Amino acid sequence: MEKVKISVTVNGQTHHSEVEPRLLLVHYLREHLGLTGTHVGCDTSQCGACTVHVDGQAVKSCTMFAVQADGCQITTIEGLAADGKLHPVQEGFWEMHGLQCGFCTPGMIMAVVDLLNQNPNPSEAEIRHALEGNLCRCTGYHNIIKAVQYAAQKMAKAGMTAAAD
Ligand code: FES
Ligand code: FES
Repeated sequence: MEKVKISVTVNGQTHHSEVEPRLLLVHYLREHLGLTGTHVGCDTSQCGACTVHVDGQAVKSCTMFAVQADGCQITTIEGLAADGKLHPVQEGFWEMHGLQCGFCTPGMIMAVVDLLNQNPNPSEAEIRHALEGNLCRCTGYHNIIKAVQYAAQKMAKAGMTAAAD
């Protein structure tokens, strides 16, 4: 199959690649760029494990072709910590035990950062609604909610926004 040239900025670094038009963005990130923090749980847009930010918005990267990301700015879980310091949402998951096996966690965290960008002080119902597209088979979600609340409070105190892009 003929390859297509794309140019994508991922975690601040621009990559020029040649990819097959059928290559999904999640496979491009994992296999071409080695960014395996973005997980594949289902490949059919059900689980949210593959969530990344495309131009600042949470997107399930198995629902997009790599060629559609041409010219876009992408942030993956690897790009979230700044200067070796965990993002408050990452810290929240750590402090509140918002994970067990960790498989869902990168996608969950990217979805939460997008939520807090849009709504810095969400209610519990708003958190649950925002994370409906992200499945976790381990935690029962309670500690994930606490992790989001932790991050929201921490960012409010510090006068921070969630933006990582
Ligand atoms: S792998 Fe993309 S939603 Fe499950
Ligand atoms: S922590 Fe295991 S799937 Fe969420």
